[in-house]
Amino acid sequence: MTSFITGLPKVELHLHIEGSLEPELMFALAERNQIAIPFHSPDEVRAAYQFHNLQSFLDIYYQGANVLIHEQDFYDLTWAYLLRCKADNVVHTEIFFDPQTHTERGIAFDIVVKGIHRALEQGRETLGISSQLIMCFLRHLDQDSAFATLSQGLSHKDKIVGVGLDSSEQGNPPEKFNAVFQQALTEGFLTVAHAGEEGPPENITNTLDLLGATRVDHGIRCVEDAALVERLVREQVPLTVCPLSNLKLKVFEDMKDHNIVELLRKGLRVTINSDDPAYFGGYMTDNFQAVADAHPMTQEEIAQFTLNAIQASFICEEEKQRLT
Ligand code: ADE
Ligand code: ZN
Repeated sequence: MTSFITGLPKVELHLHIEGSLEPELMFALAERNQIAIPFHSPDEVRAAYQFHNLQSFLDIYYQGANVLIHEQDFYDLTWAYLLRCKADNVVHTEIFFDPQTHTERGIAFDIVVKGIHRALEQGRETLGISSQLIMCFLRHLDQDSAFATLSQGLSHKDKIVGVGLDSSEQGNPPEKFNAVFQQALTEGFLTVAHAGEEGPPENITNTLDLLGATRVDHGIRCVEDAALVERLVREQVPLTVCPLSNLKLKVFEDMKDHNIVELLRKGLRVTINSDDPAYFGGYMTDNFQAVADAHPMTQEEIAQFTLNAIQASFICEEEKQRLT
């Protein structure tokens, strides 16, 4: 099964580019930009990655992003991720970035987008990896800040396909961002949002009904509401599930407890993704392998994750046909 998984073409739909910052690059950028970090070595950084929930991860994750200053830093970050995609046979990827993590520190929106976009273009040309870019609003900040971010994104519509919603789900439900998502839809952006990762199933329902989301990031707590599960099957709403992330953030204690295969067998459009691979110990192949090790599956079932991701992606219908 290992060689089948390695060789399987993959499509990633849930990847925070800031979450692909490996400790080695963090160190190199800290030195290059003269930024102090509270660690002495990449191994010490890795040892600090012990999380007990989403918030304990986010605290260290936003700190890590402080080393990203120049356009070249965002380019280097994205290029390193694309090389990992190539190694994992990822043929298409849809990447999140968090503009406010950078603009709040005085880094211009344009610098961030230009660095990421330049690497994505090079990835398309030289690695044959297609991609889309999604800007996420931080849900622990207020809606006014999200509106300001949306307006900064308007001059980059040629590079940004959609908007998303991430950060602390507890206490920051989707309805807090109803108006800004309506505005984003009016501007022609597609919408997605994290929901049902740590938060209740109502967040998934409201993400669909109030934010117009075409897919739900995580969504694994849908199982607590049978009517919602039926709806997700009926409407074939994609869930971008991140198995190693869920394990690291203690959403599930053991991969054997993870519900992704149960959801697949119920007929939901579930996909496998890496979320923040530098923090959670694995890229796409590692995530597929971890699920397959804990839940014996047929090759057809494993391949279904890729077929689901193709259908759930923002690539055009013609290209979807070609990939299927
Ligand atoms: N930002 C980066 N990773 C995240 C996750 N798993 N949930 C919410 N926000 C995030
Ligand atoms: Zn995420």
